[in-house]
Amino acid sequence: MKHFDAFRLDPVNHRLWRGEERVTLAPKAFDVLRYLVQHADRLVTQEEILEALWPDTHVNPEVVKKYVLEVRKALGDRSDRPTFIETFPRRGYQFVAPVSETSDTSGSLPAAAVTMVGRDAQHARLEACFDDARRGQRRLVLVTGEAGVGKTTLVDAFLRRAAARASVGIARGQCVEGFGGKESYYPVLEALGLLLHETDRNRVVQALVRYAPTWLIQFPSLVKSDARETLHRETIGTTRERMVREICEGLEHLTIDDPLIVVLEDLHWADLSTLDVISTLARRRGSAKLLLLGTYRPGDVVAAENPLNVLKQDLLIHRLCTELPLAHLDESDVGDYLVAEFSGADFPAGLGGVIHRHSGGNALFMTTIVRDMVDKGVIVQENGRWALSKTLADVAPTVPPTLQQMLEAQFARLSAVEQRVLNQASVAGDRFSVWALATESDLTSDEIENVCERLVERQQFLQPAGFADLPNGIPSAHYEFRHALFREAVYRRLSEVSRSRLHRLLAARLSPLCSPGQQELAAELALHFEEAREYDRAVDHLILAAENAAARFAYRDALQVLQHALTLVPRLAIERQAEVEIQLLERVGDAHYCLGAMVECARAYEAVAARAARAGLIPARVNALSALVRPFALIDPDRGIAAIEEAVILSVGFGDALLHSRTELLAVGNRLLFDTWRQEDWEICESAHRTLQNLDPTEVPEYHRMIYAHLLMLQGRYTDALASLEAGIPKKNEPIALGVHLFALSGKTVALLLSGQFGEFMRIVRSGKAMAEKNANNPWIFVFREAWLRTLVFDFDGARRLCDAVVDHARSYLPRQPEAIARFAGGYAELEQGHHEQAARSFEEILDPVITPKFFLHWYWRMSAQLGLSNVWLAAGSLGRARREADHFLASALSTGEPNLHALGWDVRARVSIAEKDWEAADEAIERGLAVTQRFTIPTVAWRLHATRSELCRRSKNDETAEVHRRRAETIILSLAESFEPDEPLRRTFLTARPVRKILAPRPPGRSVRERR
Ligand SMILES: Nc1ncnc2c1ncn2[C@@H]1O[C@H](COP(=O)(O)OP(=O)(O)OP(=O)(O)O)[C@@H](O)[C@H]1O
Ligand SMILES: [Mg+2]
Repeated sequence: MKHFDAFRLDPVNHRLWRGEERVTLAPKAFDVLRYLVQHADRLVTQEEILEALWPDTHVNPEVVKKYVLEVRKALGDRSDRPTFIETFPRRGYQFVAPVSETSDTSGSLPAAAVTMVGRDAQHARLEACFDDARRGQRRLVLVTGEAGVGKTTLVDAFLRRAAARASVGIARGQCVEGFGGKESYYPVLEALGLLLHETDRNRVVQALVRYAPTWLIQFPSLVKSDARETLHRETIGTTRERMVREICEGLEHLTIDDPLIVVLEDLHWADLSTLDVISTLARRRGSAKLLLLGTYRPGDVVAAENPLNVLKQDLLIHRLCTELPLAHLDESDVGDYLVAEFSGADFPAGLGGVIHRHSGGNALFMTTIVRDMVDKGVIVQENGRWALSKTLADVAPTVPPTLQQMLEAQFARLSAVEQRVLNQASVAGDRFSVWALATESDLTSDEIENVCERLVERQQFLQPAGFADLPNGIPSAHYEFRHALFREAVYRRLSEVSRSRLHRLLAARLSPLCSPGQQELAAELALHFEEAREYDRAVDHLILAAENAAARFAYRDALQVLQHALTLVPRLAIERQAEVEIQLLERVGDAHYCLGAMVECARAYEAVAARAARAGLIPARVNALSALVRPFALIDPDRGIAAIEEAVILSVGFGDALLHSRTELLAVGNRLLFDTWRQEDWEICESAHRTLQNLDPTEVPEYHRMIYAHLLMLQGRYTDALASLEAGIPKKNEPIALGVHLFALSGKTVALLLSGQFGEFMRIVRSGKAMAEKNANNPWIFVFREAWLRTLVFDFDGARRLCDAVVDHARSYLPRQPEAIARFAGGYAELEQGHHEQAARSFEEILDPVITPKFFLHWYWRMSAQLGLSNVWLAAGSLGRARREADHFLASALSTGEPNLHALGWDVRARVSIAEKDWEAADEAIERGLAVTQRFTIPTVAWRLHATRSELCRRSKNDETAEVHRRRAETIILSLAESFEPDEPLRRTFLTARPVRKILAPRPPGRSVRERR
């Protein structure tokens, strides 16, 4: 609210007051005043005013002068000695009176008080709940009752009283009929938006920054552009749980000083995500000075399985909510109402009874009857006193029997142009912008605004709803129906043909405001197009609406929207059906993927492939089969391989080189990662990659890039791999961003592990786990990786514990990898204890494809298990078996391009030869192994080779060279230990492990590892 002199300007409700008296101004004159007051600190040119207030029409500049004159007149200002508006000839105007601003909860608080009768008991209960909330005990109250019974009125009266009584924050959001259920968190976002408009905005922003980044990004204007990317990265993979938890924490934080009342109106139209917020807010423990008030009509959610009913029942059982049902007003309430509205009136005694009988005690019907009587001159003012102009007996027949009929009769009395505007408005919704109604062939915005203002003045059908910018930045006055039932009454009168025509006009007017990237209005437009029977465009907008849901991480809601769109497919032109259905099903699959529902995701992509096959659309089929690789990677790698091989065969014949190379890269990459490493596959992969780079590097999808980076890494090219993995981390929230992100991070951890950068490795693991925890996700991938690291630093028990914990919580398809690592670690733990049989069993289980089916890089672990077996038999002195396993291991290691495996293969061969006292063979093997360590940075195995070399020299009494290699081994070990952060406990675990201790020179007492280096 802006104050100047004795005036109060209420921009939200479009009103100017002098004291308690309203100053009437034409809508445009008000706009001019509002604009000048809002920019009171500077000179405003005529052009600026024209641009701001008449953005889409050409207006004669003289018009501004005319309105300024009108404003001056209303304010009582003089142009020769202005106190308010000063004219700077040929330049413009400046508002010169001092303007102050008061904190306003005006967006959340009702504009003006209405008479409320009855409801004392319910009001008292609300106050009692608020008292509890003020003491820190959160409360949820559901005010229920039929349409028009008086829920909103009660809540309004309570809010006004609460705001007058104490310092309190108020946030209010409204569910919307029709498209509202398709807009995730619609009323919550609205409530938050209103809080952000209040004077304490900074506190709200800070709360979002600190507790609710996933909500912060829903308000792009709050985020500085340089912070946007970080924020996107940090919110990738956000789940519904996180989003809901964050808003709860944010709101609770806002109750630290003053209590907060959050009102969510008309929950019978709520979206599922909003219900989640209510449910969570009500269930959370911990004190919060929070009162959550919901209103709804039980009659609109009768089905027992309706989510709102289910929620309410559950909360009631657990005593987490209070229901406040509102009954009809009784006869004495109606009498009180007449007394309050017409003080000192001289009405016959039975008037209240007649009105009560007619209205059935429905408050809305009652007030409408009374207004109607005034309009029709049945209630009149005579000599300053209200009286009835007819006898009571004559009054009754003049009252239409239902509210609908009454409103229809009122409507019939309006002028043709008023009716036209209301018809159009009823199609636009409970609340609408004047701009939206101004379609080309019809009235101008100014004319419509004048019509609306006239209706407001006469308190007929409409009330003002403030002034707001449309998504394209155009400011427009908004109005709303006095009650949802008024809109319904008007809308219901329209024939189907006119409805459809008006929806079409509206859709045509609004659709330029909605395009990819600026798609706030998508759900609303989808509804208009559907009602206009333009199903094509309805589906297009439903797709955008599903994207909006995904941007709010509300994938279930996105699925609902997409399912609805799928029902429209049969109404499309036959030649578009397949293409659209495919697009929708793909998105269904993506949403399931984001929800972590891999089985459903795979089912959707399979449906796409089948649909594309029926329609003979080869590229779409190839893409669907390619997409299947992602879910199958987690649930059934063999099916993933089968799908992508089918895709390759299809793509061969199609003749699109780009498509073919892309598919081939994915196919061989998948085989290499999930099946077996074959050198020829790698060559195919490289050539496909080269082709893609040559054709168009921008056409290589991120997922493919990540696969390729993994393959580079598996050949010891860590620097290249890390660079492309880093570049592959998505910068914004796309459907498969989480998958790609995790894939990139997991690749990075392996590359860091194999190249011995343990500190950086742990940093990624830690932040990955923290990210998963925030998102309420299972951090499995980071746990597997940490377990892998622990096996390298001899913490076998730690590795096993980590894996066991993941196996317990993992979904059916995830445990393969941690089970294998747990067995691997278990094998070495048993070996350390000298339990050779048990150790061998663990390693054999990894090699058994029935016990351990395929998983990501399973061949790496199988080879490592073979090495484990060789170590077991070596320790057990069973040289024949040790040699067999070692030879087997070396042969398979050399069939890969992985340098760690190569070096380890030569190392074990050398160790077996040493045990066999075949010095020559040992010498040759270790030399070949050391050669590998010189070509690649593989410190985690390099130290072992030097240790073996040293051992071999020692055996052949070449002590000097033995010491050289011991020192090399020691240096590598120490640098690995150094790569950990100083306070990392694993550093000590590594340095004190027996095989490592054997290498390290005896330490002079009291000197740390660091000092010795
Ligand atoms: N207790 C009351 N005393 C006097 N008038 C009332 C009372 N309650 C409601 N009214 C009148 O009835 C009208 C409709 O009431 P209200 O909007 O509160 O209904 P509602 O229950 O919120 O309906 P809906 O379910 O459609 O939202 C109000 O505009 C107000 O004029
Ligand atoms: Mg209401």
